[in-house]
Amino acid sequence: MAQKSPTIVDFDHHSPDFAQRNREMAREFLTECPVARTDAYGGFWVVSRYADVLSVLRDTEMFSSGHDHGNGPREGGVIPGGKVGLSGGFAEMDGHEHARLRTALNPYFSTKAVAALKPDIVKSATWLVDQVIERGVADFIHDIAAPIPGIVTLRMLGIPVDRFENFSLPIHLSVAVPPTDPDRPRVNAMLKELLLEMRDWCERKRADPGDDMLSFLATHEFDGELLDMEELTAEAVLLLAGGIDTSLRWFANTFLHLSTHPEDRDWLIANPDKRALAREEFLRYYTPATGKARTAMHDGLIGDQPVKAGDRVYAWFQPANHDPAVFADPERFDMQRAKNLHVSFGFGVHRCIGARLAQVEWDVVFDEILARMPDFQVRLDETVRYASVGQGPGYTAMPFDFTPGPRIGPAEL
Ligand code: HEM
Repeated sequence: MAQKSPTIVDFDHHSPDFAQRNREMAREFLTECPVARTDAYGGFWVVSRYADVLSVLRDTEMFSSGHDHGNGPREGGVIPGGKVGLSGGFAEMDGHEHARLRTALNPYFSTKAVAALKPDIVKSATWLVDQVIERGVADFIHDIAAPIPGIVTLRMLGIPVDRFENFSLPIHLSVAVPPTDPDRPRVNAMLKELLLEMRDWCERKRADPGDDMLSFLATHEFDGELLDMEELTAEAVLLLAGGIDTSLRWFANTFLHLSTHPEDRDWLIANPDKRALAREEFLRYYTPATGKARTAMHDGLIGDQPVKAGDRVYAWFQPANHDPAVFADPERFDMQRAKNLHVSFGFGVHRCIGARLAQVEWDVVFDEILARMPDFQVRLDETVRYASVGQGPGYTAMPFDFTPGPRIGPAEL
């Protein structure tokens, strides 16, 4: 049988060209080359159609999330995958190794557990808005979107929430500042500090456990053994980092959209009971995580395209979320879109463990903002978008103006 020859494309999701043209490219790839091959970063397959993205994420025997750290072809869930220093935790594991951690942690992220966290999330959002409400001007990224997910996860981990700046900022900057940027050494130094502090918390929790998620991880025996300190630190960093810049990008795109589409903002204010569907459309339309990678473990097919053992594969979520085979009129932003089965949280066994938590954080943040700063206006000429949107479409600065109001919460976070 004749082998289908690959369509070779010029695709680099970290390039300035991609940052400018990714929506247009997503449409082109869906229709012209749904499984294409690029030479970037040693070569990988770019998978665009919804059905193909799902089939890659579903088939964990064929497509591994694992990372061999230079001792094999597997390079984890990110392209380029040459991450140094720390493992990606259970996000970059397969089979039993992944399942034992995931199963143990699932109860902390269940709908019921997250509902119990909501009063604290409200308290944190109120506190953050209180810090700026009297000024009439703030920066959405630095004052709201970066801190809130960090505060919420630190509280779950049992780390004092007033440490949030030391955790949220380095993780945000590690995504926002490209490796070639002159500011990168400063960001790397901040990340190093973060790792040291997290390791210190892991040691403290093991020695003197409390009633929190990190103490649980530090003292739970997996297959009869405690996690070693390096792995424990990696899992703690994953749990923290998984939610910070992803949520920031989702919140920032929502905020900017509402500032530039006042009719949508007015509608959300008038229809608080319909915000849940709107929230999912912001997730689909703006796709906060651009895509995720896998490594093919044996020869096989993606659609009708043969791929080989060891090939790297990029499941590109953005076109999948705009695939007309699944989403009617996909380029239309429809806040009441029904059956919105987007892949923004991934799919299958690695689907985001923090999905419900992130949804509740979004609800709380936008309830707070629409109630207390309903006339906010983003300063578009001072808003700064990431140079690379390879991990997701984010912003480093988003100043905005609003009518000042009174503080309403306690002085302490
Ligand atoms: C808008 C917010 C978020 C988005 C868009 C997002 C996106 C994703 C995606 C796409 C995956 C799948 C990765 C893969 O298949 O390789 C994932 C996994 C994960 N996410 Fe999230 N995430 C968000 C919020 C959070 C939060 C709030 C947390 C924790 C507090 C979190 C922690 C994790 C973890 C630990 C994993 C690994 C799960 C596994 O491998 O079993 N995420 N996330």
